[in-house]
Amino acid sequence: MAKILCVGIATVDIVNEVAMYPTEDDEIRIVTQDKRRGGNAANTAVILSQLGHECYWAGTLVKEIDCHIILDDFKRYQVNDQFCHFLEQGKVPTSYIVLSQATASRTISHFRDLPEYDFSEFKKIPLEAFEHIHFEGRNIDQSLKMMHYAKYNYPKKMLSVELEKPRKGSEQLIDNADIIIFSKNYARQYGFDSAQAFLQSFNDEQSTHKILICAWGDSGAVALVKRIIYHQEAIKVNAVDTLGAGDVFNAGIIDQLLTHNNISLCLKHACQLAAMQCTKKGLNLEPMDVKEHYETR
Ligand code: FRU
Repeated sequence: MAKILCVGIATVDIVNEVAMYPTEDDEIRIVTQDKRRGGNAANTAVILSQLGHECYWAGTLVKEIDCHIILDDFKRYQVNDQFCHFLEQGKVPTSYIVLSQATASRTISHFRDLPEYDFSEFKKIPLEAFEHIHFEGRNIDQSLKMMHYAKYNYPKKMLSVELEKPRKGSEQLIDNADIIIFSKNYARQYGFDSAQAFLQSFNDEQSTHKILICAWGDSGAVALVKRIIYHQEAIKVNAVDTLGAGDVFNAGIIDQLLTHNNISLCLKHACQLAAMQCTKKGLNLEPMDVKEHYETR
């Protein structure tokens, strides 16, 4: 099992489950309300930890009333938060989420009033201890510095980055990463209508040394490695909660790539893990799920 650092955000997610998504100016009842710890990097770390890895999360927080929701959850799932930078002022990033029972869709309104993690904090982390470092494609100028520093000083470490939203300059993060996981949304913003077409647009020499992955919801997931395309169909399940499914997929990819190089199997297991996650609420894998994940390797 590997020692993994995930750099990015941790949030408080206020999940309001409703029978169906409302129309504008509607008034509806919430069926259940749940406060959970969320955030892409934090979610990925929590899943990787449940899969048996030694996980660390690095990001910013502020010690205010809701902060314990995040810290308690990290403790529960044994994610080490010693590299967290606690700021004096602000609010923990909070997402207000409408989870529709009719479709399992999750609509996120995100509130942020907290500076992001910066390079000066990242530089304090003893990176030599980690096998894998995972980044979120956010806070671009600082993330760029972090990834460049990590790649330049520790060229043998595996660096992955999730490019979920097309933010200005985010394509620059690709240069220093070994594994790049794109979302459907990201590819579509660049005018592509399939994961295959999007990944095939990376035809330069540098990209042939990277693992490029794009998840495409109902159409499954695709990888491009050494100019070869691999495709995995979506796994059909009765979804009840799709919140964080992408973060679980990312954890599945990282977990699998750390153990073997079979790209088809990596895609298959990551899709299975994400699908399994969608069948239940919250990001807690049952011991059985973990067992099944490993037995089908
Ligand atoms: C899910 C998620 C939520 C969080 C939001 C932040 O992927 O990480 O947990 O509120 O996205 O963008």
